[in-house]
Amino acid sequence: MSADFIPVITIDGPSASGKGTVAQLVAAQLGFHYLDSGALYRIVAFATQQNNIAWSNAEAVAEYAKTLNIAFENEQVLLNGQNIANEIRTEEMGKGASIVAAHAALRAALLDMQHDLCKTPGLVADGRDMGTVIFPHASLKIFLTASTQTRAERRYKQLLGKNLPADDLKNTGAKNSYQSILQDLTERDARDQNRASAPLCMAQDAILLETDHLSIAQAVSFILQQYEKSKKTT
Ligand code: CDP
Repeated sequence: MSADFIPVITIDGPSASGKGTVAQLVAAQLGFHYLDSGALYRIVAFATQQNNIAWSNAEAVAEYAKTLNIAFENEQVLLNGQNIANEIRTEEMGKGASIVAAHAALRAALLDMQHDLCKTPGLVADGRDMGTVIFPHASLKIFLTASTQTRAERRYKQLLGKNLPADDLKNTGAKNSYQSILQDLTERDARDQNRASAPLCMAQDAILLETDHLSIAQAVSFILQQYEKSKKTT
């Protein structure tokens, strides 16, 4: 099947809007593949930090990213064969991801890898620019969001429930307090929305889904209904 005919559902939105959880459940229901594009930027943030490459150095970051061997296997995120699934989930790597993600050269370096993950029977892709840049011809585009307060509460609970690396656990009281998470989220939203390259914005043909008062199950069921509808109109 040509890539043009492979069904793609894009789910974009700001940090902690619930995109990841919802996208994975939609993919599982449909038996589709799942692309967590944010993980790619988190991996690059992690790998560059390990190699003392400054996140602000656009050219060095993009060149180094091209040398990385990245694979997703079930719950594992493999960087050159090593599982770094937990290491990339920290707030520090979220921040690093949003800094490296502003570099156009890095975004270009990660383009083919994202397109290659689009395989039959279909793909659910979550991120910031899935519907606007990476898969502009997607069958269905969702923009998932919630108020900053709701998102900060969700991220706070998520981090408390996570098996964090030792450094983050040590700092849970101060560094991962609700207030600091709220502040980080606000800064990250601003950086993601205001960058020149693929800024976070809703595609013109996307459906807005506000999740402040929606459960995960309700959001999933809404998207599945919209997908069924979109199949009838194409
Ligand atoms: O989990 P959360 O929504 O906080 O973040 P993420 O989806 O893992 O993405 C981390 C960062 O990567 C974001 O703040 C964006 O700056 C960047 N990103 C991006 O620029 N484009 C994407 N398609 C996905 C993530």
